[in-house]
Amino acid sequence: MQTLESPFGDVALARVPERKKQPLRAWDAADEFVLRHLADEPLADGARIVLVGDAFGALACALREHDPVVVNESAAGAQAIAENLGRNTLKYLEAYSILDLETLTDPIDCVVVKIPKSGSQLVDILHRLRPHVHAETRIIGAAMAKHIHTSTLETFESIIGPTKTSLAEKKARLIFSTFDYALSPGKNPWPTVWSTHGVTTTNHGGGFSPSGLDVGTRFLLDNITTFSHLVPETGEPVRMVDLGCGNGIIGLRAALHLTASGANFLIDAVDDSALALAAAETSWEATLPGIAEERVAFRHHHRLIEVVDKRSVDLVVVNPPFHEDRVVGDHTAWDMFTDAHKVLRPGGSLVVVGNRHLAYHAKLKKVFGMVDTLASNKKFVLLQARR
Ligand SMILES: C[S@@+](CC[C@H](N)C(=O)[O-])C[C@H]1O[C@@H](n2cnc3c(N)ncnc32)[C@H](O)[C@@H]1O
Repeated sequence: MQTLESPFGDVALARVPERKKQPLRAWDAADEFVLRHLADEPLADGARIVLVGDAFGALACALREHDPVVVNESAAGAQAIAENLGRNTLKYLEAYSILDLETLTDPIDCVVVKIPKSGSQLVDILHRLRPHVHAETRIIGAAMAKHIHTSTLETFESIIGPTKTSLAEKKARLIFSTFDYALSPGKNPWPTVWSTHGVTTTNHGGGFSPSGLDVGTRFLLDNITTFSHLVPETGEPVRMVDLGCGNGIIGLRAALHLTASGANFLIDAVDDSALALAAAETSWEATLPGIAEERVAFRHHHRLIEVVDKRSVDLVVVNPPFHEDRVVGDHTAWDMFTDAHKVLRPGGSLVVVGNRHLAYHAKLKKVFGMVDTLASNKKFVLLQARR
């Protein structure tokens, strides 16, 4: 745990998941800049403030007295915000998805947008914010200076209105945008719908590979021609986990195969991102209407072991994320592999696709003992580890 010295008082903060040798803080210099700015130019009493992308609740905790609306897609992030508020004996705040914003009835007086890594997510966020802001709304973007590009400013200019930036402080910058009524930003291009491998997917701007099928996922789907040979025959419905389900494509492809082979199934679609789960639900409804209601549990969580029983599953399939925020690392993959080992029944399998250089083979061997290579090319490997 570390302490953020804020002009609104010190705040104790930790990330979720907490790691033993955690090199990263639960806030960045852009959060500090936002707080200094709001201390210099205070919000009016009762001002309605919305915080978008406040990763671990640094802003929510410091600004708690304003009762902010917190927008955070990550289940780990929502847990961090709740825990950090508790740590500072502040009252709980629920985290919402940007998709929930349309239910917001009061106009917003101030919105802080932490600039997301993906430009398409920023486009989606600003389109969804636009109906809730007005000429008096203080619209503030914040990021480390190296993450603010000309295209970032152009996105604000084209969707919100005239935009300028601050000078850099501690390598962070703020963006100030003013709502322009006369601007016609066009329709939000997100979500998109595209079909491949018999599956119709929905994709939000902040989802994984929203513009088309990821090459790693394609490698997995092209090399598994039937899912039924991956599961032990028990005579019971196949229990499968689509781990890090994204738009739901892997689970849906498995469901199509299993249905064609006459097998029954129950699937847990698990993802840390609320945007991913919303997309996956729509993809299921578009591809196999009416099936998800009875056979799929959509679970918004960052730890599989917290939402699926031990030794209950025949098959876990995953294309693991290899970065947290903007930081590349294999922590999440490790968590996924160890959790998968716990939830699999003896004889059950974990199937993993990944870039060759990520060396998942060695990691899986450590957790499972044995690993088979189902397919490989210069860039990707598709591995099966049996419990
Ligand atoms: C590489 S993408 C794969 C998405 C999809 N399965 C596909 O192949 O197109 C990884 C997914 O894992 C999700 N994710 C990240 N951390 C996670 C965690 N701790 N638990 C579950 N899902 C997570 C991300 O939100 C993302 O949707």
